[in-house]
Amino acid sequence: ALAAPALPPAAPDWSVERMAHHYIVPCLRHYGICVRDSFLRAELAERVLQEVGALGHSGRFRGGQLVCQRAIPSHSIRGDQIAWVEGHEPGCQGIGALMRHMDQAVMLSAMNGQLGDYTINGRTKAMVACYPGNGTGYVRHVDNPNGDGRCITCIYYLNKNWDIQVHGGLLQIYPEGRAVVANIEPLFNRLLIFWSDRRNPHEVKPAYATRYAITVWYFDAKERADAKEKYKLAIGQKGIQVPVTQHNSQS
Ligand code: OGA
Ligand code: OGA
Ligand code: MN
Repeated sequence: ALAAPALPPAAPDWSVERMAHHYIVPCLRHYGICVRDSFLRAELAERVLQEVGALGHSGRFRGGQLVCQRAIPSHSIRGDQIAWVEGHEPGCQGIGALMRHMDQAVMLSAMNGQLGDYTINGRTKAMVACYPGNGTGYVRHVDNPNGDGRCITCIYYLNKNWDIQVHGGLLQIYPEGRAVVANIEPLFNRLLIFWSDRRNPHEVKPAYATRYAITVWYFDAKERADAKEKYKLAIGQKGIQVPVTQHNSQS
């Protein structure tokens, strides 16, 4: 049996600055993973869920794409359907507000070298992902195994009344060099932040109900510049960089 897993404690209810400094930063530094429940105020969380559902009904989701592994049909690796969102499209205002809140949490955490050497200078658009509930998941992988510039993965979950025993869809993270597994349930209004590199291999267990999540990846300036130099080619939407919203006082 494994030693009792040391996993992050529950997040207290503080302002974003205090949350970043006293909770997100220590969590990331210590565990490389941070879970924050009740991330958005209830009304905004409802709006985001409603917008994501509408995206699904309007047929905006496409099969998830893989960067390499062209020999293998991608649906056998990841069974999700995805849509890329900038946040100012019609019907995506709530998602846009979510992205600003994510930007704020991440930028305040990375401020003053609190997360080490990272200089976050951009991020991807938001990847809205839907696992249709047909028993597909996403096999074990690392988001950024080869230094493409992405340093932080930020995932916001949208699933109400989710019962892991019935609906599956658990995210399991296997922190490198630690005999622990972090089991993250994809619960409504939960934000998850983790290092995108080889420190955090993870997988999504088969999901048996519609499972929604919104993911944004943040770029480190130096790794990103080096990657552009090294690869000199576009790598799909995950390679498109957009500015992070600037934080001025409290929003
Ligand atoms: C925003 C925002 C407040 C809210 O639009 O960026 O934070 O909670 N709005 O909806
Ligand atoms: C991904 C991923 C995890 C989740 O899209 O890369 O690992 O819980 N998603 O949806
Ligand atoms: Mn992943």
